[in-house]
Amino acid sequence: MASAIGPRAINKVGVIGAGQMGSGIAHVCALAGLDVALVDVNAAALEKAVASIGKNMDRQVAKGTVAAEAKDGALARIATATDYAPFGDADLVIEAATEKAEVKKSIFKALCPALKADAIIATNTSSISITGLAAVTDRPAKFIGMHFMNPVPVMKLVEVIRGIATDDATFEAIDALAAKLGKTTAVSADFPGFIVNRILVPMINEGVYALQEGVGDVASIDTAMKLGANHPMGPLELADLIGLDTCLSIMQVLHEGLGDSKYRPSPLLVKYVEAGWLGRKTGRGFYDYSSTPPKPTR
Ligand code: NAI
Repeated sequence: MASAIGPRAINKVGVIGAGQMGSGIAHVCALAGLDVALVDVNAAALEKAVASIGKNMDRQVAKGTVAAEAKDGALARIATATDYAPFGDADLVIEAATEKAEVKKSIFKALCPALKADAIIATNTSSISITGLAAVTDRPAKFIGMHFMNPVPVMKLVEVIRGIATDDATFEAIDALAAKLGKTTAVSADFPGFIVNRILVPMINEGVYALQEGVGDVASIDTAMKLGANHPMGPLELADLIGLDTCLSIMQVLHEGLGDSKYRPSPLLVKYVEAGWLGRKTGRGFYDYSSTPPKPTR
């Protein structure tokens, strides 16, 4: 039930997964004055995350959108670890690990015993059922989808997704936190891909089909959609930004969850992921990022 004194305050946040999304989430939370504990299984990912958060904040300071002292304060509020010990006093943990249901479920099972009884758990999943993930926890009522967009410090939207058991107090606390982070929310029902990825990722997948079938090369497809549909990025460029593994996982969830063959992942997308060409994060996807500007690979 909603409290008469307003939504529950979130003062300390745990973030699981220090990849592109987890580091962005830690970045905006720390700038909003929250204490942040950032956890990853990979210590190198944590080091890389802290460096990239610093660099991204420097960019904001240079642009005048963040004060230099605010940056120093925010960085000092971010602690890192490879286990859940620092989550003991967290009001909220946001999970942003690899987009695989088994990975997320094993994280939640191990996470629950490390938390306060009333801590909220949010997942940044792009497509996996919130209700299904909540069911492996000891607190489905305090479990919710909080889906940030990439890059987190820049993109204004947070999709909020309630599982079937999510209570009103949890929804209100997350809605208030999103506002505190300077984000606007869109509420989505718990269906595969929610709103943004239900529409966006099939378009990207269609871009990969167009490439696979020789309808256009990488540059033509991206130029066509940028100048012809007024999209700020072409679908293949965007796929590289999101990560091709994440795009493939989302298509698989749409395909399985909605059971319609129109969602079948492009075999060329599968091939790129098999090759380890995952986009910007690995230096190569539909573009090769070893030179500036990046070179189309087809
Ligand atoms: P990423 O591949 O950059 O980072 C994933 C991180 O999770 C890695 O650092 C990995 O070491 C870590 N990890 C894996 N297993 C772990 C475990 N058991 N415990 C702790 N850390 C673990 O992936 P990215 O792009 O940051 O995506 C993370 C999540 O955010 C996914 O669920 C994805 O669907 C979602 N998302 C991604 C967006 C994008 O544009 N890339 C946009 C919105 C949501």
